[in-house]
Amino acid sequence: MSEQLDSAAYYHIAYDAHTIMNPLGDERFLFLAEQCGLTSSSRVLDIGSGNGWSSLLLCRRFGCCSVQVDVSSQWTARARALFEREQCADRTEIHCMDAAAFHLEQDAFDLVLCLGTAPVYGGFAPALSALQPVLREGGCIIVGEPSAEGPLPRRYREYLDEFGWEIFDAKTLLRIIDDCGLEALMTLRSTRDEWDRYMGLQWKAISDRRHAVPGDAQLREFAEWARDEQEAYLRFQRHWVDWNVFLLRALR
Ligand SMILES: C[S@@+](CC[C@H](N)C(=O)[O-])C[C@H]1O[C@@H](n2cnc3c(N)ncnc32)[C@H](O)[C@@H]1O
Repeated sequence: MSEQLDSAAYYHIAYDAHTIMNPLGDERFLFLAEQCGLTSSSRVLDIGSGNGWSSLLLCRRFGCCSVQVDVSSQWTARARALFEREQCADRTEIHCMDAAAFHLEQDAFDLVLCLGTAPVYGGFAPALSALQPVLREGGCIIVGEPSAEGPLPRRYREYLDEFGWEIFDAKTLLRIIDDCGLEALMTLRSTRDEWDRYMGLQWKAISDRRHAVPGDAQLREFAEWARDEQEAYLRFQRHWVDWNVFLLRALR
């Protein structure tokens, strides 16, 4: 992979066909959310909300309101259009900004979503520490985080090191949850099919764009990156890395 590759531009194309932008399927995500007792008066904070799909699922199922924060103007525009199309724009607030700079109101939310976005706060532990205080009494966090039981193959460790990606084992994730004053109520691990679907949609979206605009140098570079990612995924990630979505509640 090229160090100069514009990863924001890459993911803007790669997630073009996704609904939820992480490997857990809609119904399994909703199963976790159902455990939170959400109602039409509940408030949800969605950190790194992407195209708005997760917040929309909650709004449709429970009638709750959401506050979405995402740094990308492309994704916040998508999310606005989605909520308008579904005629529930009055059930959400969408902020286009760096979530790390978003003022976190204390004791204000019944559910916080942090799906694939812990890096916004510098990692899993600082994300949980930052988000725990915003929970109302009995409120929950749904957080997605990868894990891997080592030792990982040397080649894959080198690959992760190259991008500064740190993947903890499950024991370390649970210790961090404890240390942040939270308890794990449930965790769902993405199935192989969910992982494959999530990755495959990215590769196909990159290829589709390249076919639509032949000869574009950046798209050629993106296609080469996708090819590298395919190899890392099929050789290593698919076998070694779990995508966990935890349902957490504050210990009072
Ligand atoms: C993998 S997507 C996940 C989207 C959504 N949480 C989901 O699971 O469907 C990551 C999202 O985080 C957003 N993001 C990345 N860095 C961010 C930051 N510093 N502040 C806010 N959003 C950020 C990206 O724009 C992208 O929409």
